[in-house]
Amino acid sequence: MYTEEELNTNKRCYEMSASKYQENSSLYEKNDRAVLGNFMYELTKFKNPRILVLGIGDCRVANKLKEIGEVYGIDFCSKFVELSKKYDIPCIEGEFLSTNIDGIGKFHGILCASFLHLFKEYDVKKALNKIRSVMYDGGILFVGQPLFKNDIGWIKEKKKSNSNQYRYHLVHNLDWWTDIITECKFLNISLVKTLDGTDDNKIWWDSVWKKI
Ligand SMILES: C[S@@+](CC[C@H](N)C(=O)[O-])C[C@H]1O[C@@H](n2cnc3c(N)ncnc32)[C@H](O)[C@@H]1O
Repeated sequence: MYTEEELNTNKRCYEMSASKYQENSSLYEKNDRAVLGNFMYELTKFKNPRILVLGIGDCRVANKLKEIGEVYGIDFCSKFVELSKKYDIPCIEGEFLSTNIDGIGKFHGILCASFLHLFKEYDVKKALNKIRSVMYDGGILFVGQPLFKNDIGWIKEKKKSNSNQYRYHLVHNLDWWTDIITECKFLNISLVKTLDGTDDNKIWWDSVWKKI
């Protein structure tokens, strides 16, 4: 789990950058998302699918998902939770691992866009198991995040080189990820490298998985 300092650092980072996210929403939209279509297609196989967005952020993806189902969110950033009200998306304010979400029922689809790399190495598995616990069998999981060619580790880094906002995140590679998610019994449906990162060590990737 996070130390108090880690949790406060990450929460502060998103509280401070929430308005920037909203301003840049249309920019991010361009990159939404190589396999979001696959995720949505898989979900149309369920009747009125229930979809949970972890780390709802500026709500732009969650709002798109409303076209195909009933959408819920969770986020620890109060500004994003406030924003979700404008989109009429029920959103729990809380830290994902430490918040009890049993009361909101089960989901056919869960979306983790730029979310799971914000957990420590041994918490990623906890997060995936928690995801499984609120997902119907055969449910569909979207995961999109940066991958690194090199070592695995938990680092504190400036969010953007020219900002004062620090954030902790996990540096990990595709082999590590594939092992963890396979161990947690998700089957890969698609995986695409989306954007080149700003440094040679980093790529972005999106993927869709089925709970087995
Ligand atoms: C990098 S942003 C991604 C936002 C959105 N999913 C997107 O793709 O634009 C990460 C989001 O997850 C939230 N978040 C990060 N760690 C969290 C945690 N442990 N529990 C709940 N929310 C968290 C942040 O407040 C932020 O909205």
